[in-house]
Amino acid sequence: MDRPMMFEPRSVAVDTDSLPAYIPVPGYGVLPVNAFLIRAAQPVLVDSGLASLREGFMQSLRSAVALDDLRWIWLTHMDPDHFGNLEAVLAEAPKARVVTTFLGMGKMGLHQLPLDRVYLLNPGQSLDIGDRRLVAVTPPAFDAPETTGLFDTKTRAFFSADCFGALMNEPAETAAEIPPGDLRDGLVAWSTVDAPWLRTADEDKFDHALDAVSSLAPSVVLSSHLPAANGMTETLLCHLSSALAAPAFEGPDQAALEQMMAA
Ligand SMILES: [Fe+2]
Ligand SMILES: [Fe+2]
Repeated sequence: MDRPMMFEPRSVAVDTDSLPAYIPVPGYGVLPVNAFLIRAAQPVLVDSGLASLREGFMQSLRSAVALDDLRWIWLTHMDPDHFGNLEAVLAEAPKARVVTTFLGMGKMGLHQLPLDRVYLLNPGQSLDIGDRRLVAVTPPAFDAPETTGLFDTKTRAFFSADCFGALMNEPAETAAEIPPGDLRDGLVAWSTVDAPWLRTADEDKFDHALDAVSSLAPSVVLSSHLPAANGMTETLLCHLSSALAAPAFEGPDQAALEQMMAA
């Protein structure tokens, strides 16, 4: 794979579709970039994909839901791989409100939107979407302070934002399809890239954050950067925990980049 690509939408839980894309990471393989659609009484889009794949993303989204009916766009955080098509979705989904935090709103300049198109929700608070609640949860690892994952109280799916992402050798339909050693190495590598602060984190306090995920007992973990992980929560937590002792990530410098490009 030499360029970002959208893949076909797929069901990842009851009422829940993933809108997957993959981006190549030269020298490291590929990274999934997932948005999700929750087919609740009030439909919810979780994140809005990559701007470079706008046409394919909007096509996938339109095929998955009537945009007139979309009620919520939950932005887990304000990184470009999560808000890439926000404006395009807002333009086609007149009833949709953006769910974010005060900081998220500020970072995106969303205060310029009419007040009824933004909805501020803090970790621990929940959003009533008609047939269930979505609870805002800070995942154990994150790369932006406004990050809010979410827990669907009906399906028990946990949307973990960047947490539990993994660099992968090739695309896969589920996390279970990734060879176990590759999953561990890829998850640890991604975690050291995305959350370099992990190596200075207090182990006991971090264990509490991991326990909080355990106690949610998710039916499935839906990371933005991993295929759907069913019944693998303890494995993912164990890999993330080992990232605390992993060496710091150091990216290629200019000379290494030029060598890679030449090869
Ligand atoms: Fe991020
Ligand atoms: Fe991300």
